[in-house]
Amino acid sequence: MLIVLIYILVFRLTHTLTTTHTQSKPTMLSALRLTSKRSFSVAAVNPYKVAVLGAAGGIGQPLSLLLKLNHKVTDLRLYDIKNAKGVATDLSHIPTNSTVKGYTPDQPDALRDALKDTDVVLIPAGVPRKPGMTRDDLFNINAGIVSGLAQNIGEFAPQAAICVISNPVNSTVPIVAQELKKLGCYNPKKLFGVTTLDSIRASRFISEIKETDPTKEAVNVIGGHSGITIIPILSQQKEMPKTITKEQKDALIHRIQFGGDEVVKAKDGAGSATLSMAFAGAKFADAVMSGLNNEKDVIVSSFVDSPIFKDQGIDFFASKITLGPQGVQKIHEYGQLSPEENEMLEKCKETLKKNIEKGVNFVK
Ligand SMILES: NC(=O)c1ccc[n+]([C@@H]2O[C@H](COP(=O)([O-])OP(=O)(O)OC[C@H]3O[C@@H](n4cnc5c(N)ncnc54)[C@H](O)[C@@H]3O)[C@@H](O)[C@H]2O)c1
Repeated sequence: MLIVLIYILVFRLTHTLTTTHTQSKPTMLSALRLTSKRSFSVAAVNPYKVAVLGAAGGIGQPLSLLLKLNHKVTDLRLYDIKNAKGVATDLSHIPTNSTVKGYTPDQPDALRDALKDTDVVLIPAGVPRKPGMTRDDLFNINAGIVSGLAQNIGEFAPQAAICVISNPVNSTVPIVAQELKKLGCYNPKKLFGVTTLDSIRASRFISEIKETDPTKEAVNVIGGHSGITIIPILSQQKEMPKTITKEQKDALIHRIQFGGDEVVKAKDGAGSATLSMAFAGAKFADAVMSGLNNEKDVIVSSFVDSPIFKDQGIDFFASKITLGPQGVQKIHEYGQLSPEENEMLEKCKETLKKNIEKGVNFVK
């Protein structure tokens, strides 16, 4: 069953990636075909070294699998406090054009070796939610985990693009920023909170209402990554059915904001979204590498150090960004909002400000 799900994920990722980026780019699946036909002799893009911290977890394992299948990755490093070597050995048998190695703390300098010279670091390390918990409830455990990892990234991979998946993203991203600032190596263009899951949920859920192909749907989702800080801007949707009622619209917004709860509830104590998150994380990492590779018009949403509300003391905000060789190339304005969306934004900003301050104060 898991294998079937993972295959579906790979196929969907492949399809969706072609709709996000320029159509001529080779996809993950075409990369697989390329490598099998040409015996690894042709590299279509620059080779990238990628580390996953928390690689043996519910997200970490399928995320690592998807990265193993991505032709842009040639050197994959998996770090976890447990079982990273097992996951790496397993993945190392897949005949794609990358090496994969596992690292655990029992090895001397494990984190140094996992991180050294990496281009992209993804962090899904930490505990997930159980039913009834908010993402903020994870702060006490995950803040310490993320800050420890950030210190190591600052020391051993200060050049890397850092993609933070661990929740609460609204606070863990500022934690990473603060740790890097302390080490004098903070690069705001290379720190990302991964909010892709909100965008893909929005695409999926809106397509169910519009009865359209979800891979062709894109919703501008701004704000942060938790509950009411997630703002899908439905007023910018061109072809909403005229028959949609206010109740249906409100229910859709609520579902996008709290879609994670559906998964937490259904898993009944066994964690939160892992497979859809792995898909989202792999899609985001692919976009970051496309940017590093100087591909054109690589536009995604992410929670980044942003000028949009800095004058109101909100240093990080999720909106569309264009990715480039140096990381964030452009932060897009969020555009026109309806009066209801403006109201949502005001509430979002209040919570976001507190979430960000909590992260910053943790490191101080
Ligand atoms: N950004 C998002 O959209 C999103 C979506 C879903 C889940 N998440 C978050 O991702 C995180 C991971 O979720 P999961 O379901 O994979 O959890 P999990 O418990 O299945 O896996 C977490 C992994 O992290 C490892 N780990 C713990 N401390 C570590 C450390 N110091 N260094 C390296 N590895 C460490 C654990 O050993 C485990 O393998 C959670 O915080 C969850 O809330 C984020």
